[in-house]
Amino acid sequence: MTNSTSAVKTVFDVEEIRAQFPILKVLVHGKPLVYLDNAATSQKPRRVIKAGSAYYATINANVHRGVHTLSTLATDAQEAARETVRGHINARHAHEVIFTSGTTASINLAASSLGQLLLKPGDEVLITGMEHHANIVPWQLACERYGATLKVIPITESGEWEISRSDDRMIRQFTEHTKVLAISHVSNTLGTINPIKELIAEAKKHGVITVVDGAQAIPHMHVDVQDLGCDLYAFSGHKMYAPTGIGVLYGREELLEQMPPWQGGGEMIDQVTFAKTTYAKLPFKFEAGTPHIAGIIGLGEAVRWLQDYDIDAMAAHEHTLLEHATKELRTVEGLRIIGTAKEKVGVISFVIEGVHHYDLGTLLDQQGIAVRTGHHCTQPLMERFGVSGTTRASFAPFNTIDEVDAMVAAAKKAVKMLR
Ligand code: ALA
Repeated sequence: MTNSTSAVKTVFDVEEIRAQFPILKVLVHGKPLVYLDNAATSQKPRRVIKAGSAYYATINANVHRGVHTLSTLATDAQEAARETVRGHINARHAHEVIFTSGTTASINLAASSLGQLLLKPGDEVLITGMEHHANIVPWQLACERYGATLKVIPITESGEWEISRSDDRMIRQFTEHTKVLAISHVSNTLGTINPIKELIAEAKKHGVITVVDGAQAIPHMHVDVQDLGCDLYAFSGHKMYAPTGIGVLYGREELLEQMPPWQGGGEMIDQVTFAKTTYAKLPFKFEAGTPHIAGIIGLGEAVRWLQDYDIDAMAAHEHTLLEHATKELRTVEGLRIIGTAKEKVGVISFVIEGVHHYDLGTLLDQQGIAVRTGHHCTQPLMERFGVSGTTRASFAPFNTIDEVDAMVAAAKKAVKMLR
């Protein structure tokens, strides 16, 4: 497991970054890969790939379960990664970092456990119209189980929350029945960066528990959970250059202590008898079963890799790509951008009149260009914009202006063929 000691690289060098991603050498249909689907899953730098395989090759053993050397080394590596993640999100304690399989599992844990802790008939859970299905369905399940109601903050034409402080609409979202606010930090479909800190502050005034889906934010910005003031913050490793199958639920210690466990099994217990089970301390109370140890170690390495760079410089580069893509895509006849918020990460969704997104995606793939097509797991948001799906390009620090130009040229060519 590499522990980088180099200083933060403040000068942004896209070629230096590209050289670290082996997959960028792959040809697709005989063409160099242009990977513009980073919001679905990011590619992995060599360091992260090596860290996962080094675990299997040199210290593979189960964690927290043995006195033998390999188990100790594996446990140490896992807990070092937890501490790395803690520092990255500025949690107060490492035991506030719970490893899950991803954002979806993190939110299911939150909804299931908070449902049991808090919800009763007549209560309300507040979400927004731009949520991913993973931040809708778990709350619907909890509401159905406990007789609560799901309330939805509407979305404007530009893809922003339809609430504002100036005219009280933010305050009016909360009633005495509101128990939970569950919101995405950044929209996976629109790229909108939401003003979550303000809404969290408002929620807190009303005694509402706040849960943030941070899957699309954490690869692009500093996330400081104490500064945000949220109770729970969920994210995935695989969108931040780490392996798939590993994610995090950050939770404020006092709340996690009150929350009942989600899944039962090994390692989440203190004492088990047939009459009664008592639970382990945090974070293990929420980590039943053997964790994805290689994934956790890979996540720690991905965080260290990110920390070697100035994340603001990375985001500025992605923003340059976004601005260029926005300008150039607008020259495609009949193209409409879905999501024109003032504050966006490097994500752009669009539809083209007379061209189905699936056909466009297939033709782009023929040129080696990977984009996502479809509803992006946000069907209610698609309905809001009156479309069945979009084509979405999402940028990473290794993408270039030339790649954006290649996508726009391929889109223009596809439009000629498909119309
Ligand atoms: N949630 C991921 C996306 O937006 C899969 O593509």
